[in-house]
Amino acid sequence: MSKEIKLSDYEQPKYYIRSTNLEVEIDKTEVFVRTILRFEPNKNADGNLFLNGIDLELKSIKLNNEDFADYHLQELGLRLSNLPLESFTLETYVKINAYNNHSGEGLYPSGPHLCTQCEAEGFRRISYYLDRPDVMSVFTTKMIANKADYPVLLSNGNLVDSGDLENGKHFVVWEDPFKKPSYLFAMVAGDLGVVKDTFTTMSGREVALEIFVDKGNEDKCAHAMLSLKNSMKWDEETFGLEYDLDVYMIVAVDSFNMGAMENKGLNVFNSAYVLAKKETATDSDFQGIEGVIGHEYFHNWTGNRVTCRDWFQLTLKEGLTVFRDQEFSSDMLSRPVKRIEDVSLLHVHQFPEDAGPLSHPIKPKSFVEINNFYTATVYEKGAEVIRMIHTLLGKEKFRKGMDLYFERNDGKAVTTEDFVAAMSDASGINLDHFKVWYDQNGTPSVKVTTDFNKEEKKLTINFEQTVITNRDDYDCLHFPFHFSLYSKEGKKIKHDYENLELNQKVQSVIIDGLDEHPVLSLNENYTAPVKVFYKQTPKEFALLMAHCQDPFNQYHAAQELIEYEISQIKEMIKAEADPRVSKDFINAYKALLMNNHIDGAFKTFALSIPTTAQLNNKSDKFDFDVLPKAIKFLKVELAKELYDEFSKTLGDNRIGGEFSVDAKSMGKRTLRNFCLKMMFSHNSPEILDLVYGQFQNATNMTDEISALNLLAYSENPYREKALEKFYAKWKHETLVMQKWFAAQAMASDTGVEVLKKLEADDVYDAKVPNILRSVFRTFCRSQDNLFHAEDGSSYMYIAQKIKEVDSFNPQIAAGLCKTLNFLGKLEGKRKENLKLALKDILSNENLSTDVEEVARKSLEL
Ligand code: TRP
Ligand code: ZN
Repeated sequence: MSKEIKLSDYEQPKYYIRSTNLEVEIDKTEVFVRTILRFEPNKNADGNLFLNGIDLELKSIKLNNEDFADYHLQELGLRLSNLPLESFTLETYVKINAYNNHSGEGLYPSGPHLCTQCEAEGFRRISYYLDRPDVMSVFTTKMIANKADYPVLLSNGNLVDSGDLENGKHFVVWEDPFKKPSYLFAMVAGDLGVVKDTFTTMSGREVALEIFVDKGNEDKCAHAMLSLKNSMKWDEETFGLEYDLDVYMIVAVDSFNMGAMENKGLNVFNSAYVLAKKETATDSDFQGIEGVIGHEYFHNWTGNRVTCRDWFQLTLKEGLTVFRDQEFSSDMLSRPVKRIEDVSLLHVHQFPEDAGPLSHPIKPKSFVEINNFYTATVYEKGAEVIRMIHTLLGKEKFRKGMDLYFERNDGKAVTTEDFVAAMSDASGINLDHFKVWYDQNGTPSVKVTTDFNKEEKKLTINFEQTVITNRDDYDCLHFPFHFSLYSKEGKKIKHDYENLELNQKVQSVIIDGLDEHPVLSLNENYTAPVKVFYKQTPKEFALLMAHCQDPFNQYHAAQELIEYEISQIKEMIKAEADPRVSKDFINAYKALLMNNHIDGAFKTFALSIPTTAQLNNKSDKFDFDVLPKAIKFLKVELAKELYDEFSKTLGDNRIGGEFSVDAKSMGKRTLRNFCLKMMFSHNSPEILDLVYGQFQNATNMTDEISALNLLAYSENPYREKALEKFYAKWKHETLVMQKWFAAQAMASDTGVEVLKKLEADDVYDAKVPNILRSVFRTFCRSQDNLFHAEDGSSYMYIAQKIKEVDSFNPQIAAGLCKTLNFLGKLEGKRKENLKLALKDILSNENLSTDVEEVARKSLEL
């Protein structure tokens, strides 16, 4: 079994690297790297040093320009001894096998280009190095390559030299004056097109903005460029943070393991987060681009200028940067809608993660493979933790905290304690108890009970903190818990505890002067990432749905009401009674649907019927029998009862004029496609014609793919025709084809056979992570298809795929393996079959540490 690395074992490096000089020669079949490092001893230096290095072929090594022999080559690096206890230079020369590297780490090919990914530990696949974030160095990079194949050669910082060489070769020299850890190094070589613009910073400096893409894609960069300029402006206005180099480059590549990477001055992006025009990208693609462009840009301060001491501190940069990108997107579009989206992401991905075998605190205490910890917990829950600090301090004091954080830590590699210390020192607010959030896993819950004394007109509200799992080592937490009260007429009642903070296991507040028991709107705007247990009646939900002034809780009440209705239907089905939907429910639903003052996206979120997967992920055991029937029944009834209303809403929300991705137009498209989907549950020939008509006539991808997703979902006369047409139209656009794969992978009748069919397609390419994800992750995340087939055929097939992918891309294989993390929620045959599948993975001889860690933990529960 692979070794656990522990936070408590952290030690400072024995030497620091003060400068890094790279000379990279890119040949047709291999790449050579000469590295000159200037070392300086730390106080614990003792003449011994281990340099990380993987899959490198060492050709020569020199110390202070002389041949050096005191080294041992090991599988994971180079062990050096008898080093000077003063400054010295070390020169290594290695060969790397870049062209056969499909791991998405180190230097690897994406289509005809070569690019790098060094976070977290990829630099060791390029050169022998102290590949750890607390070693920060300035970098100079010379690149030499054939000019015809690789006319564009990029690295971090400013271009200081370039020129032609013999034999059709050319060279460039890049210099990055900001010291950085190796994980922020980047290099790209390719025949790329470029789109250019400029940004003038608040101090009047002009920055060149350059987006590099595959030739032919230059017309899909406008939104990314606009998002970049908006991000730069937003960070100046919101946090007073200015960009620091003269050039900001973004390169879009098709093969990328994650969303994007914040390498200093040279971001590398998954092309899905750069390329968009209305014909190829959906509204949610456009929003994703804005968010990810912002995210990577914001890292320049929260991540690059101030970085992490070690990888246990990952949330220091990720939680904070996600918070920043969420705030940016809120300011660009709709704040309430963005909050709903972020919280649903947390509920869909982070809550199940935190309740399962892979649960960990936002600051993990140990790991086997750091790549497995780029999780919803570190990112999304981490962002919620920052948001709570923001709520506790208020906007002004939070800004003061950020200023102090940069003042103290610019150019350093620091810890989450340093961040919290800056926040509390700048604000005068004690955050000692709050810090428990960093160290404790599991979703906390708050049980709320009330006691109303009619004579005294007094309401007592009791709050009790618990964690769902039975743990005696559980500490209670400190967090904001805002709430409002409403009268039976839907009027907001003022009270003294609107900005309540909870910090004890049991706590109560007393509110006077009430004539009746009010309706409670708890945890408004989702101030804390907790589960709230409070018994409310459908009447109360309906009241909040109609009158709550907090948009998040208005949405939440609508969803609660829908879930309540589903639970009622489930009971009727179980009791073998004829199920029916209550009149009150239909009326409340209809009232919101027909309310013309409400934004389309908001309405869609509020009125959406949860999927089987969403509801199953919330409960202790998966229900593959009654729950899907209940959901389907509700949808069909709504489609019947409210057909005219959905149809009218569809008509009322026509969008005239030029295509635009402003909040209003996107809201309308979202709502229209939602109505279409609800009506589609009806399954009449007219609605099928309507959907196919939209598919054929669509002038943007949002409408086109919404229609295709419906047609592909289950058997109907248009299904094959639509899939074929779409294929013929888009087979040369990989990002669009990924949607075509996903549409089929989530279809209700998709099982192993369809997966095999998709894999056999010409467009399928296992070396493109986006394609793997669009087929397999889509398949595994849905519970409407045959992923959970009782015979275990899908589990076994996915296990086989994980092993295959693991042989060339362990990160993606481990990501896929994470979708098998629900053993504890299964019963009977399914449980036995999943166990077999996980054991099958673990029996693989050449298992990566990535997959091993995930599969082993998933089998434990
Ligand atoms: N730091 C990147 C971000 O913005 C995450 C990332 C990109 C990453 N590529 C990676 C992490 C590869 C691990 C491995 O969030
Ligand atoms: Zn990030």
